[in-house]
This record gives sequence, C-alpha cells and structure tokens, in this order.
Amino acid sequence: MQIINTKQELVKQMAACVRQGKTIGFVPTMGALHAGHASLVKQACAENEVCVVSVFVNPTQFNNKEDLLKYPRNLTKDAELLADLGVHFVFAPTPEEMYSPDEMEQEFSFDFAGLDQVMEGKMRPGHFNGVAQIVSKLFYAIEPTRSYFGEKDFQQVAIIRDMVKQLNIPVEIIACPIIREESGLARSSRNELLSAEERKKAALISQVLSKSVNFAKEMSVEEVKNWVNDQFKSDDTFKMDYYDIVDGNSLQSVSSWDESDYIVGCIAIYCGKIRLIDNIHY
Ligand code: PAF
Repeated sequence: MQIINTKQELVKQMAACVRQGKTIGFVPTMGALHAGHASLVKQACAENEVCVVSVFVNPTQFNNKEDLLKYPRNLTKDAELLADLGVHFVFAPTPEEMYSPDEMEQEFSFDFAGLDQVMEGKMRPGHFNGVAQIVSKLFYAIEPTRSYFGEKDFQQVAIIRDMVKQLNIPVEIIACPIIREESGLARSSRNELLSAEERKKAALISQVLSKSVNFAKEMSVEEVKNWVNDQFKSDDTFKMDYYDIVDGNSLQSVSSWDESDYIVGCIAIYCGKIRLIDNIHY
C-alpha cells in the first residue's frame, strides 16, 4: 500500500492505472475509520482492480470550528486498517495541498435546487457545498470508475449524485447500507466522542426508528413524527435537532404515506454534546 500526500503524485499514479485499463474504486473518508468505512472499502476492493481511499478532514464542510478541531484524527491507525483490507493507495493531503488560501476563505457555491436546503443542509449552512467541493476535486484527480458512500449520510449521497450529474463526471455512485454497533447504534466516528453511558443510551435512536416503522400503517406521518420526538423527551441527555419524513429522491417532507413509494425518516439528535444522525426506510 502506498501513502500519497500530494495531488501531483496522486494524479500520476491514477493516470498510470487508467492507462493500464484498470477499474478504480474510490472511498472518500475523513479518517477515524470504523467498521462502517471498512465495509465500503471491502466492497470497493472486491469490485475494482485498484482501491483508493482518501483520508482528509475537510475544513470547508465544517460550519462549526469547534467540531473541526474536535474531529478525531489518527492516520497511523487508519493506514494499518486500510493495509489489512488490501487497499492499494491512501491519499492523505494537508488542507494547503487541497485548497488555495482564497478557496478556504470564499464561500463556494453549487446549486442543488433545494436538496441542500433541508435537514442537514438547513442545520449546517454551507456543509454540502464543502462536501461537493472536496469530492469533486478528488473525483477529478482520481477519475474513479466507482465511488462508495455510506447510507447513514443519506442526504450526502443525494447531493453527490446530483453533483456528478451537474458536472458530468463519469463515475458510478454506490450507496452502501448502514453498519450498526451491536446495540443498533449507527457506526460513526463521532461515537468515539460519547461517554460510555451516552453510547449505551444512544442505542435508543435506532430502536425508536425501527419501532416507528410498525406504526406507519396505523398513524399519519405527523403522528409518527410526534411519536418519535416524544420518545426522547424524558431523558435530558437527548436534544432533538430534527426528525423529518421525506421523499427519498427529492428529500422534501411528505405529509402522507401514499405521496411517494420511497419514504425515508431522517434524524439528527444530540446525545450529550455529540450530534448523531441516522435514518430508516418506511
Ligand atoms: O462522509 C464523509 O466522511 C465526508 O463528508 C466526505 C465524503 C469524505 C467528504 O469530506
């Protein structure tokens, strides 16, 4: 496995793979790798001749400086895991390598026609512009055949699909199922920041979501939303950011179950100081 730190070297290595007609599977990450990432990487390795993983905590997608500083980083441990999984190249640049000083300052602007105005986009202004900015840069440098994203970040997958369509980038976007801890808690690098007690309690999130699916037949969308909200009210550890039930393509809220045949419930909730997200298909 080769660890690359510069764009120039990355482009050189990837162009050599393309010249040899090799398929390239790419998994973009911000490091602090866990079983969720490992499952994306395994799939990328299995389905492509070359597997590339980027490890880069992207500053332009953090609208909260404290969150950026707190984000867990451990390249040595990540690289060990990736080598064991059979990855060929790890791209781990510095922010200066990826961005010119004015790119870091200026607000970058894609038009996602409303996809970025709801849920995560509404709560974290500029976040998806930053995600699209870095992922498009990585796609241009790597020219992957396929790129793999976790469905935990449901809205992110929709944004990336829209971005590649807008920019006409010939890459297949593959959404992979959520990987969960034994308790049901969706795997996330942020879980490491929970105290042992919070981590135990956070299992309630997936429990409530899966239970709510049973109510979908007998309750209205509004009633299910209220029921989900109510389940977290008796414990001060939790503070709901949003629970929305949306059309899985447009990401706009639905008001009845027959409005779409692809309905997804998306939650963002604080467990202590840590903001967690999860989703469920109805
Ligand atoms: O999902 C993530 O970890 C990040 O948003 C991504 C796709 C690596 C872009 O920085």
